[in-house]
Amino acid sequence: MVTRDTQDSSQAWRDLAADYERARAREDSLDRLVEWPAEREVLGDVTGCSILDLGCGNGGKLAELARDGAGASVGVDVGGNFLTSPPPRVELIRGDLSDPGSLPGLSGRTFDRILFLQSFGYAKDPVHTLRAARAMLNEGGFILLTRTQPIRYAVERAEQNGTTLGEEYFSKVDYTYRTGWNEHIALTKRTYTMSDLLNAFSAAGLWIETAAEPHLDEEAARRYPHKQAWMNKYLGILIFKLRPLTSH
Ligand SMILES: C[S@@+](CC[C@H](N)C(=O)[O-])C[C@H]1O[C@@H](n2cnc3c(N)ncnc32)[C@H](O)[C@@H]1O
Repeated sequence: MVTRDTQDSSQAWRDLAADYERARAREDSLDRLVEWPAEREVLGDVTGCSILDLGCGNGGKLAELARDGAGASVGVDVGGNFLTSPPPRVELIRGDLSDPGSLPGLSGRTFDRILFLQSFGYAKDPVHTLRAARAMLNEGGFILLTRTQPIRYAVERAEQNGTTLGEEYFSKVDYTYRTGWNEHIALTKRTYTMSDLLNAFSAAGLWIETAAEPHLDEEAARRYPHKQAWMNKYLGILIFKLRPLTSH
C-alpha cells in the first residue's frame, strides 16, 4: 500500500486520477446522484460567468458549466489527468491549488465563481489558500466549497480503533485511509471539526451565505439502497456558498 500525507497528496492523486474518474462516472456514484446536482443548484445560472475550479479532477464539471454558458474558465489540478478535448473556453492547468494567485496561468486573473469541490482539504495552509481565492473574486462573485462531513471520518476511525465517536471527532491525529477508488493507495488527512472549518472561513474574511447537506432523493434511495445505507452511516458532504466580508 502506498501512503501519502496531506503535504504530498500530489503523487497519490496522480496515481488515483483514473480510478477516481471511473468511480465518479458510475451510475450509482454519490457524486452523480447527490453532490454534483446539489453543487449545480447552488451555482445557479452561470451564463457569462468566469469560473475557476481548483482541484477540478479531469475538468468534466467545468466542461459541463461551459456547455451551460459559462465564460472563459480555468481548471487546476495536480493530477493532470484532463479531458483530451475540453470546450473552447475551458483551460485546464496542472498545478497545486494551495497558492492559486501565484500559478503562472492565473496571474492577474479574476473570476465570478471559484470552486473547491472536495479539494479544499489538500490546501497546505487552508486559510492562506482561501484568502488567495477571495482576492481573485470579481465584485459580486462567490466561492463554492464542499467538504466531507467530519463525522464520516470519525465514524470510520471509531470502528477501526474500537473507540468512540467523540474521541475520534476531537482527535488531532492525522487519519490514513485506503480510498474506495483504489485500495492499494492510501491518503493521509488532517482531521478537522465543524468549528475548524467555520473558523477557517472567518479567518479568510468570508461569510456563509448558504450551507447545505444534500442527500439522495426518494427515487434514488429506492433504486440504490446500498448508497442510502452508506449515507445513513456517513452523512455525505457539506456545501458552502461563501462571500467576501466587506470589512476585511
Ligand atoms: C475528490 S477529488 C474531487 C475532484 C472534483 N473537484 C470533483 O468534484 O469531482 C479531489 C481532487 O483534488 C485534486 N488535488 C489533490 N491535491 C491537490 C493539490 N495540492 N492541488 C491541486 N489539486 C489537488 C486531486 O487530483 C483530485 O482531482
